[in-house]
Amino acid sequence: MRPSRAGGLLAPPVNSPYLLIFIVFFLSITTQCQAWRPWAHQDHPNDTLSLGDSKKFEGSSEFVHLRYHMGPVLTANITVHPIWYGAWAPSQKRIIRAFIRSLSPEGAAPRPPSVAGWWRTVALYTDQTGANVTRDVRLGAEKNDRLCSQGKRLNRLSVQHVIRSAVSSRTRPLPVNPLGGLYLLLTSDDVSVDDFCGQVCGFHYFTFPSIVGYTMPYAWVGNSARACPSVCAWPYAVPAGYGGPLAGAPPNGDLGVDGMISVIGHELAEMASNPFANAWYAGDPSFPTEIADLCEGIYGTGGGGSYTGQLTVDHHDGAAYNLNGVGGRRFLVQWVWHPALNYCFGPNALDQ
Ligand SMILES: *[C@@H]1O[C@H](CO)[C@@H](O)[C@H](O)[C@H]1NC(C)=O
Ligand SMILES: *[C@@H]1O[C@H](CO)[C@@H](O)[C@H](O)[C@H]1NC(C)=O
Ligand SMILES: *[C@@H]1O[C@H](CO)[C@@H](O)[C@H](O)[C@H]1NC(C)=O
Repeated sequence: MRPSRAGGLLAPPVNSPYLLIFIVFFLSITTQCQAWRPWAHQDHPNDTLSLGDSKKFEGSSEFVHLRYHMGPVLTANITVHPIWYGAWAPSQKRIIRAFIRSLSPEGAAPRPPSVAGWWRTVALYTDQTGANVTRDVRLGAEKNDRLCSQGKRLNRLSVQHVIRSAVSSRTRPLPVNPLGGLYLLLTSDDVSVDDFCGQVCGFHYFTFPSIVGYTMPYAWVGNSARACPSVCAWPYAVPAGYGGPLAGAPPNGDLGVDGMISVIGHELAEMASNPFANAWYAGDPSFPTEIADLCEGIYGTGGGGSYTGQLTVDHHDGAAYNLNGVGGRRFLVQWVWHPALNYCFGPNALDQ
């Protein structure tokens, strides 16, 4: 076993003003938490295409009314199809592939807490027939769009054109799998996407038949290394002048990609539990708060505000993480809302 210590960003020392602020924070979580974020947060209530945005705020069981809205969840085996948009190094692809392979029980890391254990919370969500979200998540065929077929500035509609190209390409198109296929568009660090960095680090939605030819869940996640690591690769990067200690080093040695892992996990969890924006979410349908939105920035016990919660920090290389994956890989992935416990949960929780 690797020696480790619990660590985190800005752990509030007891007997300090932070403690009081923390208490006030928890008492006023629904209205005050936004001011507490180390990152910018702006609501965008008119944007109906922003369902499933990777927004950043926390929830508290007292005020969260997560509801099931009768639509389907992903009960069939899930196959994730990455679409690599722009220039991706083989080492970067390997990190993301390893994370996806770590999700299914077969890929479970020998040492808990594992990525597969994290997905078990997602698999607690059911549809109206009582069928669970599948625990079987596989890495499927991949597609490269190295030359950026839709340019280096994407918006929410051109993203769908990228997916259309990938499934209708003359050479090795991605399989069309409306039952369990998830299309994961990953943009390199020189590609901009509407609202990237300002409001979102990723989003999920479903494709329109008029563009793609099918209705299938998809997500976009961007590499923020160049544009805004302190927003989308937090807690490995923090805003300038923030002052607090860093949580630790990216466990796979790539700030942007290690930061993307948590956002990918976020979007996969929400796609599985709310693939067509009519299943599991809290709040208004035009601005839903989904199972991962509720737990953004929380990676371990005690997390909330700008505190990550208890992480493992490797004393050899300083890597901060909370989950083990295939091939000895380590990942940091935010928690998701637990439907029975009614709070954010992960397999690294200390009090289970
Ligand atoms: C939302 O839409 C309403 C009416 O369409 C408009 O008055 C308002 O300014 C919009 N708000 C934002 C944040 O765009
Ligand atoms: C899902 O995958 C498992 C193997 O992990 C297989 O046994 C099962 O038949 C698959 N189910 C469907 C519906 O494809
Ligand atoms: C399916 O979901 C129910 C309700 O959350 C849960 O009790 C059960 O353990 C889940 N089954 C699996 C296989 O995850």
